[in-house]
Formats: sequence, structure tokens, C-alpha cells
Amino acid sequence: MKKVLVTGGLGFIGSHTVVELQNEGFEVYIIDNLSNSKIEVLDKITSITGVKPSFFNIDLRDKAAVKDFFANNKVDGTIHFAAYKAVGESVQIPLEYYENNIGSLVYILQEMKANNLNNFIFSSSCTVYGQADELPITENAPVKPAESPYGNTKQIGEEIIKDATKISELKAIALRYFNPIGSHESAKIGELPIGVPQNLIPYVVQTAAGLRDELSVFGSDYNTPDGTAVRDYIHVVDIAKAHIVALKRLIEDNNKSQFEVFNLGTGQGNSVLEVIKSFEKVTGKKVNFKLVARREGDVTAAYADTNYANNELGWKTELSLDEALLSAWKWQETL
Ligand code: WQD
Repeated sequence: MKKVLVTGGLGFIGSHTVVELQNEGFEVYIIDNLSNSKIEVLDKITSITGVKPSFFNIDLRDKAAVKDFFANNKVDGTIHFAAYKAVGESVQIPLEYYENNIGSLVYILQEMKANNLNNFIFSSSCTVYGQADELPITENAPVKPAESPYGNTKQIGEEIIKDATKISELKAIALRYFNPIGSHESAKIGELPIGVPQNLIPYVVQTAAGLRDELSVFGSDYNTPDGTAVRDYIHVVDIAKAHIVALKRLIEDNNKSQFEVFNLGTGQGNSVLEVIKSFEKVTGKKVNFKLVARREGDVTAAYADTNYANNELGWKTELSLDEALLSAWKWQETL
């Protein structure tokens, strides 16, 4: 049974990926320091798959702990999710973001190299493109100067990995997610925003649940059909399944170069108002909202060109926006 390390494996995308890895017969080791996740997620994963992943409460900024883990666990692959990811927060505490997101990445790569462990999947983001000049966005779109320290850690992270592949046998794939949303069909795992949600869908479902008075729609004067910003909302389970395809690509040596990048999106752009309308349609719930000023740092539109991921990686999305929105609501109802 192939062994795989999932860092941040109790988080939103991490936990969904652990479920799909177990469904595919992988033995999963999770490292998580619970800074943005809950230990209860471990039992939820176990209740879905019937298999309890091995869990290590390690802070990846602890170089000695990272060294010890890789010296004692010869994993066939590493999927690295663990990172701080709040755009706005990263502007407030940039040094913590660089220490955590970059420091932990370097330690992991050092110890993988020391133990000749060479298959690495990196959680990246479409945020590296900023406002792309052309839509849909391909993997060849230029990486724009980061709009936030968070986005910068993703850009720098990719550069570090690329450099690491030049001095070792490391094979790496960076997966640039567009906007992951939704929850597992069991409604046992999902997005657990701490405090006031920064992202759209958690805020929408909390408003529908009556936990928030009304949603503020950031900007209604964008150059889009209805004036609100457009994004590519992709079901988190489709994102999770892409990680298994990418991991198998590396384990089976089907990669075409030591550093590859794939966009993970549906190829479909939807505006904020379209998302609200779809959510109300599939759930029958009302979402109170008001149109307010744009949010600093937001781009007008971002959605993926999916050809390269479909044809080269051999992966495509299977779930719709409506299914994702309904699953997000079903998850919210359990909280
Ligand atoms: C989506 C749209 C907002 C909240 C960010 C990161 C990206 C990834 C996903 C981590 C935008 C609008 C939002 C609200 C709103 N994060 N909105 N009212 O900004 O596209 O992407 O989160 O990996 O890297 O950049 O996602 O969900 O915050 O916003 O109108 O209360 O919804 O303006 O147009 P975003 P988002």
C-alpha cells in the first residue's frame, strides 16, 4: 500500500483529499498543527472511509520535528496543504505568513531531499495570476506581482520548488486552484471558517442560516455582465480528486518534467449575483445582500482554461456549481 503524507490534512481541502486518497487505497499520514482546523475532523474522515489516518500534531516550523518525521516515515509522496491562507490577514501579519508558509516548505523539501523522497504536490492558487490579461486563464499566463503576502508565498513557493528540482531528483506538481467550494456528500466534512468568513460561499451559507444579517457584495461596477466580479467556483471534491491523479502521475513517472503546473478550475465563470441566485434556487433559502464598494485587491474576473489539465493531467471536473452550493448548504445545516 503506497504511503502518502498530507500536511494540513485536517483542513478544508486537505480533509477532502485524505478521503479520496483512502478511497483509492493509499495509506495516509496527516501532519497538522490544528492552527486552522479541528481534531474532530480526524474522526469524521474515519467515519466516512472506515479507515483512521495516522495523525501527527507537528508544527512544520519545527525543523527538528520535520527532520524526525521524514527520517522515520518513508512516504511515497507528499501533498503539502499546510499554510496560512487568508488574503486580508496576510497584509496585517506578513512576517508570520512568510515564516509559516515559506519556512515550512523549505524544511519539508530539505528533509525529503535528505531521505531521497521525490514526489511532491504543492497547493498553489490562481491568485498568482492576479488580473490576467486574457480569459480564460492558461498555465502560461504570466505570474503577476502578488496582490498580497499570501499570494506572494504561493509565487515564492513555486520558485523554491522549481529550484529544488534542479539540485535533486525531486518531481513536483503545483496545482493552482481557482475557487474551491462545497463539501463532501456525507456533510461530515466541509469548510470551517474561524470567525467572520472572508470567502463568499461561507458567508452566503451563514447568511442563509441567519447567522449573518446580510451579505455585502463587494463591488457592482465591474466590467462584467451584471457588474459583480466573476470567479471559477470548483467543487472541493473535484479539487481533491485532481490531487490523486497528480500524485499517481509522479509515482508512476508519467510527469513530462520535474516541475509541472496545472490549473484546477471548471472553466466556467460565475458572478457573485449569479452565485446568490443559484444558491437560492437549489436550497430554497433567501440570501439578504447589499451592494457595497469593491474590496481592495479583488480582480474583476478569473476563470480557468481547462484544456491542459483535461488533456495532459487527464482530469476534469464532474460536479456542477449547483451541486457544490447545495453541498455547502447541507454542511452548514450540520453546524
Ligand atoms: C470571491 C468573490 C469577492 C466575500 C481568495 C483567494 C484565493 C483562495 C480563495 C485561498 C470576490 C466576493 C466575497 C463577501 C463578496 N484562497 N465576495 N462578499 O478573493 O476570489 O479568492 O479565496 O487559497 O487564493 O485569493 O475568493 O471567496 O474571497 O471572493 O462579494 O463577503 O466574492 O469580492 O469577487 P477570492 P472570495
